[in-house]
Amino acid sequence: MDIFLERRKKLADLLPDGSVTIIHSANQKIRNGDTDYSFRQDSDFLYLTNFNEADAALIIEKKGNTIFHLFCAEKDEVREKWEGPRLGPENISQLGFESGYKIDDLILKSTEFLNGADHLFCQNKSEKKLFFALTKGLKDQKINFDLNPKNIKSIDSLIHELRLLKSSEEIGIIQKACDISSSAHERAMKAVKPEMYEYQLEAEYLHEFMINGAKECAYPSIVGGGENACILHYSKNTDLLKDGDLVLVDAGCEYKGYASDITRTFPVNGKFSSEQKLIYEIVLESQKQSIESISEKSNPLETHKKSLEVIVEGLLSIGLLKGSKEEVIETQSYSKFYMHRVGHWLGLDVHDVGGYEKDGKVRSYENGMITTIEPGIYISKEENVPDKFKGIGIRIEDDVLVENNQPKVLSSAIKELDDIQQLMAS
Ligand code: GLY
Ligand code: MN
Ligand code: MN
Repeated sequence: MDIFLERRKKLADLLPDGSVTIIHSANQKIRNGDTDYSFRQDSDFLYLTNFNEADAALIIEKKGNTIFHLFCAEKDEVREKWEGPRLGPENISQLGFESGYKIDDLILKSTEFLNGADHLFCQNKSEKKLFFALTKGLKDQKINFDLNPKNIKSIDSLIHELRLLKSSEEIGIIQKACDISSSAHERAMKAVKPEMYEYQLEAEYLHEFMINGAKECAYPSIVGGGENACILHYSKNTDLLKDGDLVLVDAGCEYKGYASDITRTFPVNGKFSSEQKLIYEIVLESQKQSIESISEKSNPLETHKKSLEVIVEGLLSIGLLKGSKEEVIETQSYSKFYMHRVGHWLGLDVHDVGGYEKDGKVRSYENGMITTIEPGIYISKEENVPDKFKGIGIRIEDDVLVENNQPKVLSSAIKELDDIQQLMAS
């Protein structure tokens, strides 16, 4: 069976009889004037339909039997000449649908489907808009459905639970995304030199992504030299890279809709200073032990604790933190250097969906989950530390699949300090 139909059926099985579920595509967004941003489909909609146009919706009508309806833009010769081909409702069988309508009829048909239904499900993002549109539609058509905010249920967590466990096809695609991004990181290590602009280094990534079949980035690339590495979401990438500084690059391509998310930190001039080495080795050790902590018996909270313990021990050993390990963790005095979680789920979205808790408890890892592992230490120049440590920001991030109840690292970019120096010298 087509995997997208299979997903729709799995979702429908979770829905009560007498329900209507409406799932919208993304909208095209204006960048400026009459120029649009590059279109990116809504991940839930893409997961269930494999349909990559804006102005579309999926309706699951489950009343006795289940019907999947696809709503999309009508064919239009003139618009298609300017904007490219549209599928059109008459061709929806190409995507495994049996029922198709033009998107302009979405409210009219949804209202009809609600006749005799007891439940309405929709995405959180469209609840308000649908509430107002359907209130009017039901009144106009004199259909008796008790529409009140309490009666509209969210479909999000049901889809997200399905998305959390990746199939072998999805794992293959994410592996390919990781391969492309890993080779981009190694290309950048070879290309970087002092007095380059951060965005010029970014160009090495974009080139490697695109020539290997990945047209888009999974998120805005972070290319932060020196102190800029300490700004967690830095993405201006407009400063010069300086001799003696490190550069932190958090960059991953999107391949067939799926994200990779990889960070490497390397010296702009090819050689780590002794202080940079000390911090790098602590982050690398934390990352390795965090990855090793992954099994069906552990969970993301335990992995985070492991990453934190190694970082705290390391910073105590070189005197950047004071006190006992327990005190530092209890008082969170480490948080000026390590202020984020160790990882997040990865999939169609870079910060992918799926609960970190189940039935009120932190959930254990399961085969098919993919998580990032990305500890870091960020020493801003404002901190009261010896000058040589100021402006060192280091994160090392890999993408890790749980397979056979063990971690399998999908991203292969080199990360051992000597390997990086060797590659950069070659
Ligand atoms: N690239 C975003 C993150 O690492 O979470
Ligand atoms: Mn990242
Ligand atoms: Mn990440």
